[in-house]
Amino acid sequence: MTIHPSDPSQRAAPDIHAGSPDRFGYSHVLKKLLDIHVEQFNGWTAALPPELWKGASFLDVGCGMGRNSLWATQKGAGPGVAIDVDEGALAFAGDILRAKTEVPVEVRWMSAYQIDFQDHFDIAFSLGVIHHLENPELAVQNMVKATKPGGRVLVWLYGRENNGWIVHLFNPVRRLIFSRLPIRVTDHLSWGLAVVLWAMLHLGWGRLPYHDLLRKTTLRHLKQITFDHMLPQIALYYRREEAENLLRQAGLTDIVSVWTNRMSWSVSGIKPQTPTPTATSSAP
Ligand SMILES: C[S@@+](CC[C@H](N)C(=O)[O-])C[C@H]1O[C@@H](n2cnc3c(N)ncnc32)[C@H](O)[C@@H]1O
Repeated sequence: MTIHPSDPSQRAAPDIHAGSPDRFGYSHVLKKLLDIHVEQFNGWTAALPPELWKGASFLDVGCGMGRNSLWATQKGAGPGVAIDVDEGALAFAGDILRAKTEVPVEVRWMSAYQIDFQDHFDIAFSLGVIHHLENPELAVQNMVKATKPGGRVLVWLYGRENNGWIVHLFNPVRRLIFSRLPIRVTDHLSWGLAVVLWAMLHLGWGRLPYHDLLRKTTLRHLKQITFDHMLPQIALYYRREEAENLLRQAGLTDIVSVWTNRMSWSVSGIKPQTPTPTATSSAP
């Protein structure tokens, strides 16, 4: 069930559109659940010991089509709440979760900037969302607030390491052209880029584990991944230290980071029982 915010001012939040929810919403409806998505989930959540999912209540921030909430329930987690700011994505997530799991997962319209839970979840996670936001720090602080003391916060972020060519070559073109084109045009163009990428991969280009993963995908899935990289207005690439600091400065301790496919960072931290002073705390 999709629940709308009772406070209409939530919808007037000034900065949610920078996270490209409408453009991702268009992308979600083209997606199907694939086995490779489970493999991706395992990599994206590698910073969390897998046994922690069992019986854990969870918050999925920027749930998109709901696939990550679904995999979390399949690892024994639940009940959960899945939030996003795109109506289409939420409808999609609601359908998938109703059809594929009996674990209660409530699907809600809620921005990462205005999470209204406090000390509520065992695990708050956000996969592939924070690096598209205008204010990643605020989103992570809100996730920490929503987590129980002793609970975990987990994010998956694009890595800067090994992605220099994206930052220097692809990112400027995405920012200046692809992210401004009508979404249907970007969608069509992504086929062309995906065909080139598919040919390069199968001719032997790319030696990283992520390239091996891509070689296993169909052209259609490769097109989807290419499209997702072309459409957002914001795409931030974090070095390990920056990724860890994002969580540390939100007051988390015991930070663990795993270099997923040598291209991205799965990072987790524990919410302390007593709050630690954070970089954002006001001076006494
Ligand atoms: C790249 S998609 C990732 C979706 C999902 N986590 C997944 O892995 O399939 C980014 C998602 O973040 C959502 N989003 C963007 N800004 C947001 C915000 N301020 N609060 C919550 N979700 C947001 C978008 O609507 C979109 O569904």
